[in-house]
Amino acid sequence: MGETVRAVKETFAGTETLEGAGVRLRRLFGNAHVPRFDPFLLLDNFGSADPHDYEAGFPWHPHRGIETVTYMLDGRVEHDDSLGNSGVIGSGDVQWMSAGSGIIHQEMPKQRDGMLRGFQLWVNLPAREKMSLPAYRGLAAPEIPVVPTPEGGRVRVIAGEYEKVEGPVRGIPVDPTYLDVTLPAGGSFSLPVKKGHTALGYAVEGSAAFDASGRPTTAQHVALYGDGDRVEVRAGDGGARFLLVAGRPLGEPVAWYGPIVMNRPEELSQAVVELRRGDFIKHPKPIVEE
Ligand code: CO
Repeated sequence: MGETVRAVKETFAGTETLEGAGVRLRRLFGNAHVPRFDPFLLLDNFGSADPHDYEAGFPWHPHRGIETVTYMLDGRVEHDDSLGNSGVIGSGDVQWMSAGSGIIHQEMPKQRDGMLRGFQLWVNLPAREKMSLPAYRGLAAPEIPVVPTPEGGRVRVIAGEYEKVEGPVRGIPVDPTYLDVTLPAGGSFSLPVKKGHTALGYAVEGSAAFDASGRPTTAQHVALYGDGDRVEVRAGDGGARFLLVAGRPLGEPVAWYGPIVMNRPEELSQAVVELRRGDFIKHPKPIVEE
């Protein structure tokens, strides 16, 4: 059996959305797309130089049953939670937060002007880990390895592996890959991706052909791959910057209510009851890995 290169099976333009207290962002995929991106639930791209688009932020809200991954390209967001943890996610930083059984937090822009740009990806937790201990991994930009490509590009490895360099985020149930790839004009990129894993590319800047068809996917579009052993990408004439994300699908039922994603509707009603009653938080202290 020869190795098969994955083909793009669908592309998504996303929709302009207002989230939190009125943050303008582009939702590339979300609730309406379940289970297409399994184990990924949602990908938002925010990016604006106008403070009116982001200053309202994401005030106090709960999460349960998922991991939220915030990756900042520009700007600073302050994070606080109900248990007294706080920190700033700055340019190039990543926060990989496992809500597990429950966290209540806020995510607020810390700047008054200038560019705020980044992503939030929601990664599902398997049923057996949905009520596990909450945990944070806060990664400062210099902790994320940068691997050069043969043609002068660069790959930031947040999770998974590129050219034998492993990203700092490890031990995540769905075995994720999360790469930020920059290629010069016409530059190429190749990566083995485990068969059966879901894989997607998101063109952040420029355009890239995400498969051998040569059809370019332009900036702010997601390309969802069909199955295979490897992805091959070629940047367009202006070069490209893109995210490459992959992970093992869970194949479990999804019950989704706002920021809470469980397996069964009863678990959602239970969460709402607990929020009202004040016993939503199950663990007095999350695990913090700095
Ligand atoms: Co949140």
